[in-house]
Amino acid sequence: MHHRLAFIGFGTVAVGLCEILLEKAEMLENLGLTYEVVAVSDMIKGAVYDEEGLDMTKLLEMASSGEDLGNYPTGIKGMDSLATITETNADTIIEVTYTDVKTGEPATTHVKAALNAGMNVVSTNKGPTVKHVAELTELAIQNDVQYGFEGVVLAGTPVLNLARYTLAGNNITGFKGIMNGTTNYILTRMEEGMSYEDALAKAQELGYAEADPTGDVEGWDALGKVVILSNVVLGKRISIEDVEREGITGISMEDIASAKASGERWKLIGCAEIEEDGTFSASVKPMRLPLSDPLAGVGEATNALTFETDELGPVTIVGPGAGKRETGFALLIDLLNMD
Ligand SMILES: NC(=O)c1ccc[n+]([C@@H]2O[C@H](COP(=O)([O-])OP(=O)(O)OC[C@H]3O[C@@H](n4cnc5c(N)ncnc54)[C@H](OP(=O)(O)O)[C@@H]3O)[C@@H](O)[C@H]2O)c1
Repeated sequence: MHHRLAFIGFGTVAVGLCEILLEKAEMLENLGLTYEVVAVSDMIKGAVYDEEGLDMTKLLEMASSGEDLGNYPTGIKGMDSLATITETNADTIIEVTYTDVKTGEPATTHVKAALNAGMNVVSTNKGPTVKHVAELTELAIQNDVQYGFEGVVLAGTPVLNLARYTLAGNNITGFKGIMNGTTNYILTRMEEGMSYEDALAKAQELGYAEADPTGDVEGWDALGKVVILSNVVLGKRISIEDVEREGITGISMEDIASAKASGERWKLIGCAEIEEDGTFSASVKPMRLPLSDPLAGVGEATNALTFETDELGPVTIVGPGAGKRETGFALLIDLLNMD
């Protein structure tokens, strides 16, 4: 499929996708994916639109050197996100602005505008999917376009596609997983004897944790992913208020030592389950896992998810949950899967 791409947001993940598209152009063409980038609109980096296409190498050079995209040699400059969606000749929007899981904005407005305008959307932004996944999926169907969001859970580790395609034919009755790399990194360091405070500082130094780590350590990030998986994979219609939440800030060195002495390990687990009588429950909380559990062996900032299936029993996938190329790759999966 040929795409005329417009980027809404041109930060880390957008750059990751551009690098892959450039480096693997030949392989992707063999897989049926060709493209041109016609527009980029970013609140800080600037905006440029050229209906004839933009030079992606030049865009990357400008973004990395901090030069305003408004200095691009050709095209129309300064279009905001909505104008870029509604007034350009793009047919596929890449929505990679910041995430706000409480309001879903501004990304939900972008996604809706694009779908209503008959454009495909690929996005790694959890906001719209946490708030409105059923509505947006329906809107895409009504407009005969596609909305891909593989990267909202575990970045490019293909969790949603695994459930949708590869495990199709199973009843998936639940899942449990390590869905936040920062907290897994901190717990891994604590098990080696480092204090929570030092482990958090190290996570911040490595760029895993933000200056305000609340979203990670209090479980909000994992909570959003539990909502998305419950709605997309288990067919529920829940919101963040329906999920019990507890972060890792209450775990002491004594708790870590006590688990270790019993052959167990603390992990921040996001999970949901549909019981035989139909009862549904979902939570994010620290749990002590026996070392025999595949999730117990997943350390550092790595993520993992186990689906509970009727035909195969538990099926676990392990992989990165963040990163420039790792998340850019999720957008690529969605582009490749469009028909
Ligand atoms: N990085 C990862 O590893 C990862 C993993 C999974 C999912 N994600 C999700 O992927 C998305 C992109 O992440 P990222 O790491 O690339 O973020 P980023 O580096 O912060 O880039 C986002 C860019 O979008 C711009 N922006 C924000 N609102 C905009 C608007 N209304 N119109 C145009 N541009 C706007 C931002 O400008 P300002 O700085 O001015 O806001 C920023 O330059 C986020 O939703 C994130 O949660 C990221």
